[in-house]
Parts: sequence; C-alpha cells; structure tokens
Amino acid sequence: MMKQELLKKFEEVFGDANGAAVYFAPGRVNLIGEHTDYNGGHVFPCALTIGTYAVARLREDDKLCLYSMNFEESGIGESRLADIEQKTPGDWRNYPKGIIWAFGKKGFEVTKGLDILYFGNIPNGSGLSSSASIEVLTGFILKELFGFDVTNQDLALIGQFSENQYNGVNCGIMDQFAIAMGKEDSAIFLDTADLSFEYAPIALAGAKIVILNTNKKRGLGDSKYNERRAECEAALASLQTKLSIKSLGELTEDEFEANKELIGDEIKIKRAKHAVYENQRTIKAVQALKDNDLALFGKLMIASHDSLRDDYEVTGKELDTLVAEALKQDGVIGARMTGAGFGGCAVSIVKEEAVAAFIENVGKAYEEQIGYAADFYVVEIGDGPSVL
Ligand code: GLA
Repeated sequence: MMKQELLKKFEEVFGDANGAAVYFAPGRVNLIGEHTDYNGGHVFPCALTIGTYAVARLREDDKLCLYSMNFEESGIGESRLADIEQKTPGDWRNYPKGIIWAFGKKGFEVTKGLDILYFGNIPNGSGLSSSASIEVLTGFILKELFGFDVTNQDLALIGQFSENQYNGVNCGIMDQFAIAMGKEDSAIFLDTADLSFEYAPIALAGAKIVILNTNKKRGLGDSKYNERRAECEAALASLQTKLSIKSLGELTEDEFEANKELIGDEIKIKRAKHAVYENQRTIKAVQALKDNDLALFGKLMIASHDSLRDDYEVTGKELDTLVAEALKQDGVIGARMTGAGFGGCAVSIVKEEAVAAFIENVGKAYEEQIGYAADFYVVEIGDGPSVL
C-alpha cells in the first residue's frame, strides 16, 4: 500500500518510475543513557516502526535530483556530484548530500547521479532522529545501488561522520547506530567506548512505549549541545591530571565522588556527574530488565530525567511539565526526556489499559500550562534499514 503510493508519487514527480526501488530506515527512541554517547558511556535505544521512506534510482548523468514529500514547496532540488561540497543553509538536502560526500571521503566514490524521493513519518525536529534516519537510509541506498562493501555498522559510522564533518553537529554515535542496527522488539545495549553491543528483548508485559512530543520549536539546541559536550571534555581533562582514564564512562559513582574536586568548577562538576551517574544507571537499567524488574527500570528512567533537569540542564519547562504530569497518572511505570533535550520528546512506559486516560490527562494538563498541545505516539520497536 505505502509502497505503491510512493512509486506513484515518484512517477508524478520524475515522469516515470522505471528502475526505481523503495527503501525504508527507522527513527529511534532512547530508553535510557542520555548524553553518555560522547562520554564513552552506554546507551539503550531502539529503532521504531516509523521512519523515512525513499524511492530511488540511478541516473546516467552526474545530477542529484532530491525531492521530499515533507517539503513539497521546495520542489526537486538539482545539484551536481562535482559540487557536492556546496551546502544550502537550512536545506534538508544537506543530510543526503553529506552522506554522498562522506562515502567519497571514505573511498567509496559515487560515480553516477540519482533521483530520490523521500517521505518521512517521524515528526521533524522532535528528537526521534529524523535526520539520522535520512542519513542511514541514504547510505543504505548507495550501498544497494553501487554495491559498496559496507556493513550496517559502517553505515552508522559514515552517518555520524557526515553529521559531524558536513553538517557541523558534534553528535555521538547513538542515533545512527540505533537506526542502522535496529531489531524488532529489541533495544540495543551499546557501549560507545568500543561499539560492543547486545540486543535486549523488550517484553513489557502488557505495557506500551508512549512517546510524548512537546511540539516546542527548537532553536539554539545544537549550539547548547556542542556546549555540553565541551563542558564534559573540559571536566575529563581536569580528571586526567590525576586519573588514567580515556572517558567519563570509565568511572564508577564512588571514583567520581572521590576525585570530582579536581574539576574545580561547580557547573562542570554537575555536567560530569550526570555523565558518570547516567552511564551507571543505564547498566543497572538493562540488568533490571533482564531480572524482569520493570518497576526498577521505571525508577531509573525517572532518576535519569531528574539528572538531565538538575545537573545537565537540558530539559526546559515543556519537557519537565510533560514528565511531571506523566508521572501523576495511573499505570505509568517510568517517564523521561529522550534525545538531545531542549524540547523534542519524552518517552514513557505505560500499562496498556491506562494508555487512553494517560494521553487524555497529560494532554489536557500540558495544554493548560504551556498554551499549546502535545502529541502522543504509541510506538512499536522495529528493524533497521530495508528494501521494500
Ligand atoms: C542527540 C545526539 C546523540 C546523543 C543524544 C543525547 O540525539 O545525536 O548522539 O548524544 O543527543 O543522548
């Protein structure tokens, strides 16, 4: 159904759909382990069944013709492979173009142009990684159409490389990894220090993952993101004057408490404290899940939010209101902000029979306090990229 509709749209936009195939890559939600991925810590995200679709085919010339059904007013953007370094500020095409550029830098030369139509059903800018989804999807298409010898893990690394070097956001590996390596009904327990990982089945025993979107427009998010990262790096450098560690993720809570005065600055101590404690919380949360202790998993989610609000200071009124209201409801097991923060989404685990009332009550309270509505999505955990 979706596939036929997309091919039809491609035909409308590009004249015919000869030789075109349909591809999909998911979005992601992080269950716990926030702002730990650039601190050598653990994360615990999962891929979703919502994501980005694309219809793509090779061209015989060197033109890139990129169209998005989410930005129809901007039409077909045409550029040449030879001009791949030229970016248009604020244009969504910088994500696919960044991937083509990054493949070239890694020795996989894209030698022919492409027609690609994109359609995403992840809300843009909501913190569910619509950009990483486009990146991994584009990499997957290049791998399929040019036969490049890359693994899904390579697609994640190339995606991060393009985001860092082409798009200038100093993100960690979590989003691209969660998307490229996604597995139905499992979350990914990833150690970002060495990329070792394990799949943890998510059996929520009659509970659902409910995502709550603040619908707050984000502006300065990216610069604050880079600022937090720099604060953690400065804290690490101070600790390294005495400790032989490569990242904050190597420290236990006790080791941190015994050495934190080396950092010598209250704000940076708080930032590093979050990174250290959040990493340990993530390890404990995965163990709780293995022990079938969903209640403890929920408590750790709540502690994660408190730390992101008080020590890391990346939540804001909208996310704090959503989470506070969520935690007042019957049947809620845990709730926290997810992703970079500063707006975007929160994630919660809610007993199935309580979901309808949960959405109604939290929605009402949020709108009363914030002045506009939140959105809610009951999501399922899906697979990584695929050809449809
Ligand atoms: C964004 C980044 C990720 C990660 C999260 C915070 O989603 O892209 O790498 O740092 O923020 O956990």
